[in-house]
Amino acid sequence: MKVFESVEEWRKHRAGLPRNLSLGFVPTMGYLHEGHLSLVRAARQNNDRIAVSIYVNPTQFGPNEDLAQYPRDRNRDLALLEKENTDWVLLPSDAEIYPPGFSTYVEPPEPSRLWCGQSRPVHFRGVCTVVTILFNLVQPTRAYFGRKDAQQAAVIRRMTQDLRFPVEIVVCPTIREPDGLAMSSRNVYLSPEERQRALVLSQTLAAGVERFRAGEREARVILESGTRQIANTPGVRLDYLGIVDQNTFAPVETVQPGNYMIGAVYVGKTRLIDNRVFESPGGCV
Ligand code: PAF
Repeated sequence: MKVFESVEEWRKHRAGLPRNLSLGFVPTMGYLHEGHLSLVRAARQNNDRIAVSIYVNPTQFGPNEDLAQYPRDRNRDLALLEKENTDWVLLPSDAEIYPPGFSTYVEPPEPSRLWCGQSRPVHFRGVCTVVTILFNLVQPTRAYFGRKDAQQAAVIRRMTQDLRFPVEIVVCPTIREPDGLAMSSRNVYLSPEERQRALVLSQTLAAGVERFRAGEREARVILESGTRQIANTPGVRLDYLGIVDQNTFAPVETVQPGNYMIGAVYVGKTRLIDNRVFESPGGCV
C-alpha cells in the first residue's frame, strides 16, 4: 500500500497507469468503521486497483459544526486499509486540496435542496466541490458511497450525470450495529446514555417501513406517528423526518416501493442521520 500526501506525486503516478486499468475509489473523511470497510471490499471485488482518500473536508462543515472535533486517527485508518489490500491512499492536506487563491465551488444539484441541504446550508456545496476535485485527481472507473448518506449519494449521482464525469457511482448498503444503529464516525461522540437514546432513529424508520408492509400508503400518517415516537424520547430532538423519491429527494404523498424514509435527529449535540427503503411486498424494490 502506498500513501500519497502530495497531489503532484499522485498525479504523476496516476498518469503512468495503463489506460484500461479499472480503478475503484472510496472517498472518506477517515476514522474508518465497518461501513467504510464494506465500501473498500466492494471496490476490491470489482476493480483491478483501489484507491481510498482520507480527507476531512472543511468546506462541507458550517461555521458552528464539528469540524474541529471531527474524530481523526490516521495510523489506525492506515492499518485497517492495509489489511483490506488497498493499493493507494490519498492523504492530502488542506493546502493541497484548497491552495491559496482557490475560489471555484460546485453549485449542488436539485436533490440537495431539502432535508440536510436545509439544515446544513453549505454542506452539499462543499461535498460537490471536494468530490469533483477528487474525481479529477483520481479519475476512477467506479466510486463507492454508503447508503446511510442517501441524500449525498443522490446528489453525487446527479452531479456526476450533469457534469458528465465518466465515473460509475456505486451505492452500498448501510452497515448497522447489532442493535440497529447505523454506523457513523460521529457515533463516537455519544455518551452511553445518548448511545441508547439514539436508537430511536433507526427504530422509528423501521416502524415506518413496517407500517407500509402492513398496508399503510399515506406518507403523512407514517410521518405523524414517527414524529410522535421521536418527540417522546427525552434528550432527542428531531431535525427532520421525510418520505422521498430516492433520486430527486422530493417528498411524496403516497408511498411506493423504492421510496426512502429519511430522518435526522440531534442526540445531545450530536446530529445523526439514517434512512430505510420501502420494499415491495415480495421484498424487492
Ligand atoms: O461521506 C463522506 O465521508 C464525505 O462527505 C465525502 C464523500 C468523503 C466528501 O468529503
